[in-house]
Formats: sequence, C-alpha cells, structure tokens
Amino acid sequence: MGKPSDRQSLAVFPGSFDPITNGHLDIVERGLNIFDRVLLAILVNPEKKPLFSIDERVGLIRETYSANPRVEVDSFSGLLVDYAEKVGARVIIRGIRAISDFEYEFQMALMNRRLNPSIETVFMMPAESYSYVSSRLVKEVFQLGGRVSDLVPPAVERHLCEEYGDPGEPDCGRARRREP
Ligand code: PNS
Repeated sequence: MGKPSDRQSLAVFPGSFDPITNGHLDIVERGLNIFDRVLLAILVNPEKKPLFSIDERVGLIRETYSANPRVEVDSFSGLLVDYAEKVGARVIIRGIRAISDFEYEFQMALMNRRLNPSIETVFMMPAESYSYVSSRLVKEVFQLGGRVSDLVPPAVERHLCEEYGDPGEPDCGRARRREP
C-alpha cells in the first residue's frame, strides 16, 4: 500500500480560460468537494486568437488560487486524454451550464472515452446564477464598457482594467454601468 499522498485523487479541468470566470471557480469548488486536487489545464490552441496569452492565463489562475494548494494550473497541447494520463488523472471535469452545452460536451466525452477508456468525464453544473456567464461574453461586456466585477475573480478584473481599460476612466467604468 502506498503513502496517503499516493492515493490522492486528481481531476483535470481543461479549457481555454480566456479568461477564467466565476462560473469556472464555481466548478472548481464543486470539484474539490469530490477530488483531492483539481488541475486546471489550459489548451494551447494556435488556431484561436485569445485575448490573454497562455502566461497571463496561467498567472491569473495561479494568483486566484494562491492560498489553495489543492488547485493547480498548467498548459497543454495535443490530446487531452494523453495529457490527463501523463499527469496521472483518471477524471476530466467539464461544466455544463445549459442544454445548449450538452451536445458538444457529450461528443467530446465520448470521443475522449474512445481514445482512452480508462479516463472518465464528469459533468458538473454551476449555480444557476452563472448559467449565462462565459469568457466570451465577459470579454464583450468589458470591451463595450459594462461592469464585469461580479463575473470574474478580482485578479482578472484588475488585469482587464490595467491592460485594456480606458485610461480616461480611472475607475475602469464601474461608475458607468450598474446592474439593476
Ligand atoms: O474552454 P473550451 O474552449 O470549451 O475547452 C475545450 C477543450 C480544451 C476542453 C477541448 O478543445 C480539448 O480538450 N482540446 C484538446 C484536443 C483534444 O483532445 N481533442 C480531442 C477530444 S474531443
């Protein structure tokens, strides 16, 4: 029998995380209720034009979870199942916000199972309050001057403001648009 640490369960939570949102955080929290460690794995995808570089995305996730040693972050390229096997994870976590997510996720899960039947995909549902939150919409809302402070962790909001905020608006537009 191995040491206790050898038996720790590890789940990979893959994605683009461009940027990480509070919806992702909700899924990580749920994952930590089931698994000992959750590893956020950012896909290096040369075909996509991300707003945040891989290094920025890794840095923002690292900062967000600096106080939680059970959450790790890494980037990967190639097949997800190969990456999961390489790091010793038997589980892939994916979040499903609505039925519209399901078809694509189901397809991916079955393809991943075909590629490596020993790795299981676990779907988790975020709180309803995050069911409409996506990285794409967060970027769009921010770029059009809307508030995103309740949608992303503080590190992401700060980075958005520093890198892409309007220099004429030192409060980063917070005064402009308020949620009802
Ligand atoms: O956050 P996203 O963009 O929905 O994440 C998609 C991701 C990274 C999970 C998916 O594109 C992926 O796993 N890519 C790795 C390539 C791969 O393994 N493809 C075959 C499985 S369908």
